[in-house]
Amino acid sequence: MSADSSRLILLLSGPNLNLLGERQPEIYGTTTLSDLVQISVGTAAAHGYDVEHLQSNHEGELIDAIHGARGRCAAIVINAAAFTHSSYALADALATFEGVKVELHISNPQAREHWRHSSLIAPYVTGHLAGFGASGYRLAIEAAIAQLEGAA
Ligand code: DQA
Repeated sequence: MSADSSRLILLLSGPNLNLLGERQPEIYGTTTLSDLVQISVGTAAAHGYDVEHLQSNHEGELIDAIHGARGRCAAIVINAAAFTHSSYALADALATFEGVKVELHISNPQAREHWRHSSLIAPYVTGHLAGFGASGYRLAIEAAIAQLEGAA
């Protein structure tokens, strides 16, 4: 854990993302979650930030991680996976976090099945990035840092 909470970013990965690389590669590509975490850590480090990562298939664990980030992390980058479309509890948890929040998706949910078109967490995030594949992780970390540093 970073001693400096102003330079700590929590990266959260929701259900089924542990299977990236094997899971529907035609949609999500062949990059593994550990590759994506490495990209995120490297991008953050280049700007003097640390990344802490948690993946969970359990809603409550993700909620606990958001609570644990309050006052301890400067930003959250979250790919909530299917919980994006179903979890009011996750939305409520994100509302309690006062730092920068970036909603991230590998695919573009708007271009997929209808049930993916609504994001319950969207009203509680600073902004979102979707559809850029693995490079979305670099872009999301950069977006979070730009917000933290007050860039336009
Ligand atoms: C996803 C999109 C969601 O609709 C889906 O349930 C996922 C992954 C993405 O990164 O594209 O599991 O969040």
